[in-house]
Amino acid sequence: MYLCKLHNMIIGVPKEIKNNENRVALTPAGVSEFKRHGHKVYIQISAGEGSGFSDAEYIEAGAEMLATIEEVYSMSEMIIKVKEPIESEYPLIKKDQLLFTYFHFASHEPLTHAMINSGAVCLAYETVEKSDRSLPLLVPMSEVAGRMSVQEGAKYLEKPMGGRGILLGGVPGVKPAEVLVLGGGIVGTQAAKMAAGMGAHVTIMDISLNRLRQLDDIMPANVATEYSNEYNVRQAIKTADLVIGGVLIPGAKAPKLITHDMLPTMKKGSVIVDVAIDQGGCFETSKPTTHAEPCYVVDGVIHYCVANMPGAVPYTSTLALTNATLPYAIQLANKGWQKACSENAELKVGLNVVGGKVVYKGVSDAFNLEYTPVENFLGNSASA
Ligand SMILES: NC(=O)c1ccc[n+]([C@@H]2O[C@H](COP(=O)([O-])OP(=O)(O)OC[C@H]3O[C@@H](n4cnc5c(N)ncnc54)[C@H](O)[C@@H]3O)[C@@H](O)[C@H]2O)c1
Repeated sequence: MYLCKLHNMIIGVPKEIKNNENRVALTPAGVSEFKRHGHKVYIQISAGEGSGFSDAEYIEAGAEMLATIEEVYSMSEMIIKVKEPIESEYPLIKKDQLLFTYFHFASHEPLTHAMINSGAVCLAYETVEKSDRSLPLLVPMSEVAGRMSVQEGAKYLEKPMGGRGILLGGVPGVKPAEVLVLGGGIVGTQAAKMAAGMGAHVTIMDISLNRLRQLDDIMPANVATEYSNEYNVRQAIKTADLVIGGVLIPGAKAPKLITHDMLPTMKKGSVIVDVAIDQGGCFETSKPTTHAEPCYVVDGVIHYCVANMPGAVPYTSTLALTNATLPYAIQLANKGWQKACSENAELKVGLNVVGGKVVYKGVSDAFNLEYTPVENFLGNSASA
């Protein structure tokens, strides 16, 4: 039986230990916000280092620093993180402890079982959802990746990086580069804005006419919109210097919009940035790469396919992520998870695993596990 918690909360922020993860779940500004609401915040020593936040800044904001990850987990009622817990963290998680972080359960069965066995309350960033079906805690990372895709594309178009040696914006008397953006969602919109700002000639393709209408309204004059179909893609890639892939079909693998046979029709030294690589990629020849070795070449076309692009800019990514997570985290701390989730439908759909039960249909379906409606855990507090 869960009791509705109405007193102050003890919040813990462990240092991220997943390979190459430099983000941190709370900034010093976030600490000060929790303190303002009367909560206690523990931060693991050097947790903010990778994002450029020193221990001294956290202390000044009112946090207490703990030396080990074990202490953070054992002394906190609510853990705020960035990435899903990794295996060495499983035994540290306590029954009834609230975990607010990215989990991506449906792609990780051992993690799902570990969280079921822990008896903890797992609220996943990626399934927090607004009534218009947008995902407010995924949007900031798409914004970062979309803007960054142009920066990376511009870099690899330079000759010393293997590219064809063209400047995105051209110069007076020399035409700018052609940038093709596939998908006009969050990634595509931010990519198009950046490329247009640098002076390139940009085309955005999408299958949603409504989306294209909106983009046509808001984009500057050097951005054109075009309906996405195989014929139009085949034509456009012949002249493109940089192609950015940002398509998404929710719950499905990305469609392959550029197939291997199309690559020889592209210019040698052109660059494709497949942002959708985390969903399988939208180019047939894409395979996930890392920041250590971001690119490879197929048929003279440079492929940039880093699956966690925001990881390269942890300062910006941490601020963007925490701007979005903090208001939810404050609600959870102020009201306790049951009352907060009962009163806020956006948070409620973030609950994935509670007290040993799977309460999110997508996760129970993925692994054929028993599904328990989340209402079973919220019942009493709904009227509290
Ligand atoms: N690599 C990274 O580091 C990273 C970071 C953030 C997001 N992403 C990924 O980027 C992808 C895009 O994310 P988003 O937030 O922009 O999604 P979104 O839902 O906002 O936009 C996707 C767009 O693709 C369009 N689309 C669907 N099928 C299409 C087709 N055949 N042709 C053209 N357009 C089509 C949709 O209409 C939609 O407008 C996702 O796969 C996301 O996971 C990757």
